[in-house]
Amino acid sequence: MKRRDFISWVGLGALASSLPVAIAACSSQTAAPEVWQSVAPSADLDKDGKLLVNNSPVGPVLLVGTSQAAANLIAVNPTCTHRGCTVEWKAEDKKFVCPCHQAEYSTDGKVQKGPAVRPLSIYATKIEGNSIFVKAT
Ligand code: FES
Repeated sequence: MKRRDFISWVGLGALASSLPVAIAACSSQTAAPEVWQSVAPSADLDKDGKLLVNNSPVGPVLLVGTSQAAANLIAVNPTCTHRGCTVEWKAEDKKFVCPCHQAEYSTDGKVQKGPAVRPLSIYATKIEGNSIFVKAT
């Protein structure tokens, strides 16, 4: 084997052995958003009618509502689309407001007031047993 061939084989081997590490590093830390994921016990939401779950399987989720009115549950990704602050639920105005630059979003995630221009991501919701489940819409 010529020296050039040997170096090529060694280089190819190094590349092949590092590929699984590179794939693992690029994979998402959150579960697939298109399947139902349990994010919280329904009792936790019922305490205040809103619940921020920062480390759910789909990432951060802000839930609004109660388990007694499951059809009216709201679930959004609370990450403001302007610069990434966490929006807050304003029950009296029935909207999400960003504390950083006061962007406002409706219950379906649409922007009501800038500076944000893109909507919040929303999730479908359901309650099974004592757990709240969400799924990307
Ligand atoms: S980060 Fe939310 S309005 Fe700027």
